[in-house]
Amino acid sequence: MSSYATVSPQVVHESVLCEARVGLTATPKTLSPWLFYDQTGSHLFEQITQLPEYYLTRTERAIFIAHADEILQQAAAGSTQPLTLIELGAGTATKTGILLAAAVRQQGNVVYQPVDVSETALDEATENILVHIPGVTVRSQVADYTREALPLDRLRNTRTLALYIGSSIGNFAPADAVEVLSNLRAQLQPGDKLLLGTDLAPGPNKSVADLLAAYNDAAGTTAAFNRNVLTRLNRDLGADFDLAHFRHQACWNPMESRIEMHLESLRPQTITLPTLPPIHFAKGETIHTENSYKFTPQTIATLLTSANFTPTQTWHDPSHLFAVTLATAI
Ligand code: AVJ
Repeated sequence: MSSYATVSPQVVHESVLCEARVGLTATPKTLSPWLFYDQTGSHLFEQITQLPEYYLTRTERAIFIAHADEILQQAAAGSTQPLTLIELGAGTATKTGILLAAAVRQQGNVVYQPVDVSETALDEATENILVHIPGVTVRSQVADYTREALPLDRLRNTRTLALYIGSSIGNFAPADAVEVLSNLRAQLQPGDKLLLGTDLAPGPNKSVADLLAAYNDAAGTTAAFNRNVLTRLNRDLGADFDLAHFRHQACWNPMESRIEMHLESLRPQTITLPTLPPIHFAKGETIHTENSYKFTPQTIATLLTSANFTPTQTWHDPSHLFAVTLATAI
């Protein structure tokens, strides 16, 4: 996931300050989810992916394990060119190995281009992949694909399979999600493929309570992940948030089909940050820190077609908790 660990401290400070200035002076107050992923936050997210309540990561992994060969066959179908795999927000690429191993089985070897804003995560990804999967050539790229058009250096005479997995797209409101995928599409050729992982809206095997538990776990790891953003503002900006007076909150917004995470002020209070005017909180007022959109087959199809992709095939786990959709650039 995103981290600014390898960007200069000055740039980190400017970006965090900009987020705080815009988000904390707005009504309602907001902060962007990328702020979660400092060193502590990235570690807490790794822990979240292993929680019993957080079904997303293990369910997507199970789909890959069951269907990797078929996914790679479909991605290569109709072309004589080998596939190159690029991954947006690769992080440490723990699930990607399953797909890379299938690509090596299918075509003998494969070039893998992970893109992430965190160089340390990419180093870990490269190490994991090179050690465990012979036949993979890794060409990692440090970039923030959400802010810049991807400077993809595309290999000649290959077909690209872009991976955007883990329901990372769920952090974006529908219009922004279309923009992220359109930016990706602009770097691809007609016939190239996208594999998109999306968490699904409540259904027969997923209650709203299940969904809420995934974002409000019994061990309190998600609460720690959410509250860590305040610790980060204290450290990076010299703010004086007292964590004793903020509470983690997760709620289901059925109109928007999303989980929202908030930090709720437990009393009236004023926070000070150098260079910003004082920030007042009423009791019960929240900072909206994250949206995690949950999809239906229709919203997945609309998102893809709006970004000039045609959905080709979707794979699910047996309980239909999560979807992995292959789409073709048109
Ligand atoms: C990394 C965006 C997919 O929305 O489920 C996990 C982040 N937030 N628990 C998600 C997250 C709280 C996660 N994504």
